[in-house]
Amino acid sequence: MNTDKASEILSPAFKAIASDAATVLAMLELPASAAVLDVGTGEANFAIYLALEGFEVITGEPATDSSQYANKPWEDSARKLGVRDRIRFDAFDASDMPYSTDAFDAVFFFGVLHHVEEKLRDAVLRESLRVAKNNGAVVFFEPKPETLERVWQTDPSHPEAADPSRYAPEGAKLESKTTGSLMDIYIYRQGA
Ligand SMILES: C[S@@+](CC[C@H](N)C(=O)[O-])C[C@H]1O[C@@H](n2cnc3c(N)ncnc32)[C@H](O)[C@@H]1O
Repeated sequence: MNTDKASEILSPAFKAIASDAATVLAMLELPASAAVLDVGTGEANFAIYLALEGFEVITGEPATDSSQYANKPWEDSARKLGVRDRIRFDAFDASDMPYSTDAFDAVFFFGVLHHVEEKLRDAVLRESLRVAKNNGAVVFFEPKPETLERVWQTDPSHPEAADPSRYAPEGAKLESKTTGSLMDIYIYRQGA
């Protein structure tokens, strides 16, 4: 299914999200068999995009998150698009992930880091690099200023964007920073 059709079924926002996601997938050139982790399920837009692209996706968020951005009815959306069976949900906190070292070819945070408590962000960066394979990618999508301006019109309490470099461990390699249509995109490379 193409993203136009998917956004008709989900929401117009999905098209813009998919555009930023496509930018990154083109840069990463992951094989179809890649092990991918989507941190911060939310509405699962990003997990669904990855599943539509053919990946088997693990996604998760803390079971205890009672914010308006968590525990959303994403399974219905995934079913509507025929990709529910390609998405596995694990409840976890990204500051202490239940995965082995070197488990994933790519770890994605789409619109997530700024929702993580400030005191946990150092650990989240450390953990995401730990679970990435050698040469694996850790990708943060954080809202551009104009995206935030739009979000604040409906949610004035929405947090400011987070700059991952403030929380990255010493020696972590920022491979690229790209401006997408909605998000600023930071790609870290494990072991580079
Ligand atoms: C706006 S939603 C993300 C949108 C989602 N990625 C999408 O594509 O639709 C923010 C997410 O961050 C998650 N989050 C906040 N703190 C977290 C933490 N410590 N560990 C993992 N996820 C966290 C929330 O539970 C929520 O799922």
